[in-house]
Amino acid sequence: MSDVSRPSPAGVRTAAVIPAAGRGVRLGPGAPKALRALNGTPMLIHAVRALAASRAVSLVVVVAPPDETAEVKSLLDAHALPERTDFLVVPGGESRQESVKRGLDVLPPGYDIVLVHDAARPLVPVDTVDAVIDAVRAGAPAVVPALPLADTVKEVEPARTPGEPEPVLATPERARLRAVQTPQGFDRETLVRAHETVTDNVTDDASMVEQLGLTVVVVPGHEEAFKVTRPLDLVLAEAVLARRRLNDGF
Ligand code: C5P
Repeated sequence: MSDVSRPSPAGVRTAAVIPAAGRGVRLGPGAPKALRALNGTPMLIHAVRALAASRAVSLVVVVAPPDETAEVKSLLDAHALPERTDFLVVPGGESRQESVKRGLDVLPPGYDIVLVHDAARPLVPVDTVDAVIDAVRAGAPAVVPALPLADTVKEVEPARTPGEPEPVLATPERARLRAVQTPQGFDRETLVRAHETVTDNVTDDASMVEQLGLTVVVVPGHEEAFKVTRPLDLVLAEAVLARRRLNDGF
């Protein structure tokens, strides 16, 4: 059983920052991705519920599209969320990295563990969230959930014109590769230092901690923690929700 179901070690509290300010261009035209519905409920609400489902998470900071901050606040008010959890909403920035930084900037004192979770991964199971928290509590400064790859991966020289053939530069050994998901978990002080120190544009938070020279560890991810990126992912997400509904018997 996960340690997270037991009371927190004295004074150790966990907050989750959910960057949700991306436009979701690859999903096609429409509302910002996080506000699009999955089975009638905005993706963001699914993601917030997924993180708040962990008994260890007592604060969720949603980083909203800047023009939609008020709408996100009313969405959080309108949907049933656990009473033990507090919520904050802040406007996001130009990049994911900047959005996460804005979330970190408003974290009150007393939260020593921070999770960063993409709103675009609305279906992450609570056991994955708890496994990440457990590993941070056990002393890792940064923890990422990840899965082995099904596909072989090639490094290429990217084409200047889309669709042109691309020369292959290398084939990394698949057994050593992992596809990384969220929530990623951090010792708060480490993550804040990473965001103050690393200025390169990165696609995840753990890589900033790697650049500080600290060890990042991987724990098993889950296939339902996939990122909703393209239109087909919406179909898959709704199928997962339908299966859960059947299994829950309502
Ligand atoms: O673009 P990508 O799919 O990597 O985005 C991952 C997450 O980061 C999404 O939940 C998206 O809403 C968020 N994001 C953000 N601010 C941005 C860009 C992306 O909060 N400027």
